[in-house]
Amino acid sequence: MWTKRSLQEAIKDRMKDYRFIIASNREPYIHEYSGKKIKCVKAVSGLVIALDPVMQASGGMWVASGSGDADSDVVDKHNKIQVPPENPSYTLKRIWLSKAEEDGFYFGYANQALWPLSHITYEKPIFNASDWEYYKIVNRRFADNILDEISKEKCFVWLQDYHLTLAAKYIKDKKPDAIISLFWHIPWPNPEVFRICPQKREILEGLLSNDLLGFHIHYHCHNFLSTIENELEAKVDWEDLSITYRGHKTLVRPFPISVDYEGIAHQARSPEVEQAMQNIPDTIDPPYEILALGVDRVDYTKGIVERIRAIDRFLEKYPQYQGKFVFLQFGALSRIHIKSYKQLIDNIQAIAEEINWKYGKGYWYPVVIRNIRLDYASHLAHYRAADLCLVSSLHDGMNLVAKEFIAANIEKKGTLILSQFTGAAREFSKEAILVNPYDPDGFADAIKYSIEMSELEKKERMEKMQQLLEENNIYRWAGKFISNLLKLE
Ligand code: G6P
Repeated sequence: MWTKRSLQEAIKDRMKDYRFIIASNREPYIHEYSGKKIKCVKAVSGLVIALDPVMQASGGMWVASGSGDADSDVVDKHNKIQVPPENPSYTLKRIWLSKAEEDGFYFGYANQALWPLSHITYEKPIFNASDWEYYKIVNRRFADNILDEISKEKCFVWLQDYHLTLAAKYIKDKKPDAIISLFWHIPWPNPEVFRICPQKREILEGLLSNDLLGFHIHYHCHNFLSTIENELEAKVDWEDLSITYRGHKTLVRPFPISVDYEGIAHQARSPEVEQAMQNIPDTIDPPYEILALGVDRVDYTKGIVERIRAIDRFLEKYPQYQGKFVFLQFGALSRIHIKSYKQLIDNIQAIAEEINWKYGKGYWYPVVIRNIRLDYASHLAHYRAADLCLVSSLHDGMNLVAKEFIAANIEKKGTLILSQFTGAAREFSKEAILVNPYDPDGFADAIKYSIEMSELEKKERMEKMQQLLEENNIYRWAGKFISNLLKLE
């Protein structure tokens, strides 16, 4: 069993001669002004949930772009700061993007081209030539900042996600002996989908400059190998799961990402969470007997609209639950300068209002939307208080909300309704209640089934999921990834 301590020891022992650097677009800790005071908040992102405990275990450096309005006021002259604030254990090195760079790289190429292309949720990707130019500039900036840190040393560089597909190439051009890897946190699409990307050759060549490429599940590795076979003259070895391109070999492996199971379960028992639980009934406006919860970044891939449509169908089909059932959706806003995200926020609000009007009676109405970021104790308290957690992504690499809900469910009385199109559904295929978010009727029946399930069945399902999660925790994910890196020495 991997633990924080065993990961720490493995890293100390086996990586002591190496510099260990992680890079991602999103920084783990953001400094923001609140009036004249500066507060530090943790970013809302599956990637950060997963990698922050790994970095706390490893020390090392995390390179990311600064995004808070107070970020530049708290770093030293090398743009570095020790984090987390309450227990400084690793270095965050911030890089700075101009508005135009952020627009082209982040809002443009990363999130309007690669994000919809990879998720296949019928949101058309936009490939804009000037966005692509900024994407290259920013990838080079990341590479240069990493190169500054590793000039003379042996190093492992671990790049994160679709924002940084070109960085490995830029680093290898100057330091060919650097061991570089990338973990792709989102789905990899099938070759028919990927082939429309005008910059596909540069992106694939950039990715093949990595020595190790990780995806969540076999299916995405398979899609990647097929994409390479279709697009490049490379040797694809299906047995070994590797690709050799222009004399360089890249290993492709599945690493299902996870959460710090023990840490979350421990925190969920804390007095702060107990206190926050007591406050929940006063903060939810309509009275309820059954509480269903959704927690997401507001993103069209998360299937929030489909979820509310399913609730509409559930209340229509099973009117005995009107007056008793309340769905509470927490949505953290991100990427709000992109039109489709703005429209989504309005759309969710409009559908919720429509349904509340349709069913509302007296004080009761069924859907509560809160576009706020909860503090950690309230976040865990809501997981504990909820009877059901609804995860209905239209497509998701893994989905860590599902895993956080399981870890926090210490009473073992909650039920997880999980989209079959998440990576997590492969791990909890028998224990979660799987749904197709595109099928409101099936989804409605799943909600009814989950509510009416016996206490014993709920407990057994939850216990099994907790066992699976305890074994396949975040330290195992990182430990396995790092073991694979070490084999590349
Ligand atoms: C997904 C991506 C991450 C990203 C996160 C939050 O989990 O895989 O790379 O950081 O969403 O999105 P944001 O655009 O706010 O960083």
